[in-house]
Amino acid sequence: MFFPTHSFQGLQTPFYYYDTALLGQTLDVVAAQLALREGWHMHYAVKANANPVLLRIISARGFGADCVSGGEVRTAIAHGFAPETVVYAGVGKSDWEINLALDAGIGCFNVESAAELRVINDLAGAKGVQAPVALRVNPDIGAHTHANITTGLAENKFGINLEQLEGVLREALSLPHIIYRGLHFHIGSQITDMLDFQALCNRINVLSHELSRHGLPVGDINVGGGLGVDYEHPDDAPMAGFEAYFDVFRRHLDVRSGQKVHFELGRSLVAHCGSLVTRVLYVKEGTSKRFAIVDGSMTELIRPALYHAFHLPQNISVESTRPNVTYDVVGPVCESSDVFTRAFGLPECRRGDFIAFRTAGAYGESMASGYNCRPLPKSYFSSDFF
Ligand code: LLP
Repeated sequence: MFFPTHSFQGLQTPFYYYDTALLGQTLDVVAAQLALREGWHMHYAVKANANPVLLRIISARGFGADCVSGGEVRTAIAHGFAPETVVYAGVGKSDWEINLALDAGIGCFNVESAAELRVINDLAGAKGVQAPVALRVNPDIGAHTHANITTGLAENKFGINLEQLEGVLREALSLPHIIYRGLHFHIGSQITDMLDFQALCNRINVLSHELSRHGLPVGDINVGGGLGVDYEHPDDAPMAGFEAYFDVFRRHLDVRSGQKVHFELGRSLVAHCGSLVTRVLYVKEGTSKRFAIVDGSMTELIRPALYHAFHLPQNISVESTRPNVTYDVVGPVCESSDVFTRAFGLPECRRGDFIAFRTAGAYGESMASGYNCRPLPKSYFSSDFF
């Protein structure tokens, strides 16, 4: 990725920089993959990044939105997503959030429990409307990813267990203010082993067969999100492996005629196009280490502190060659976990150099906080400079 470092000189750091051209190319690839099958739809997972400019670019492609709160439903619709393309998941939807989504006329509630199903039925009844609903199934598949971001295993809070599914489905069919639309799945995030998605397809096929055998409708299938990206080599692999990913579903998911397939990718659409741009404040010599202290921190990008995630640091101020020096790259926040990376070799850092943390477009800005009374990060776009 090319950074307009010269144009950054007058800007207050830290900030997010988004390459909107790369985002556009990524969306092109995804749209082309979806077009290979009729009835395949993308609902961008807004939680990955709710930056208004990015939302506008994604909604302009005709993609739908996958939301997990009333706030996200409101934000998505305000930034161009058609209400009927909005799907809404989450184990703890409040009454005001359900009412907001009903009033907006969203496409589908992804329901996570029988208790929630009944509340949606009651609230829809009070408005004299019917709520479109998919049942989120916990498929009991362990994706090979970080424990904090796997969601499809039996012991976690998401979805309806396989044993309970048939009962909840029968109830959904019997409730007067519910329209049953289909089944929803999501097995985790940052998944790079395509066999995990193949296992999901197999599980869906078996489940669909079982339900049909019991005379129950399957409806449409939402396979969730989860496709991972390469954080180590952002320039060699500036796009996720969309072809291999969609190929798994083309080859392994049994789709019946007229059945729609919904996808909810978040990270893989936006991760690569974003970087957190910071400045070196101080280089501090420790006893056995050298610290590069930058002005960005875990309040702009919490992933290293929360998941030990790696975001490649790059000294984008270095034009001529400088010797490589090993640093712990750290932020100013009063937490010992406010470390971007340890023992990392960078071209010698000097006060004022710009350090960009790469592949930060997903779950970066959207997870920013105001801890230590730090301001929320600003954002700039390649289209502002080129
Ligand atoms: N659908 C559902 C129901 C989800 O829970 C998620 C993400 C997605 C779709 C989008 O998944 P993606 O394609 O982005 O993997 N903060 C963590 C990631 C949390 C993901 C939560 N669910 C991180 O920074 O790695």
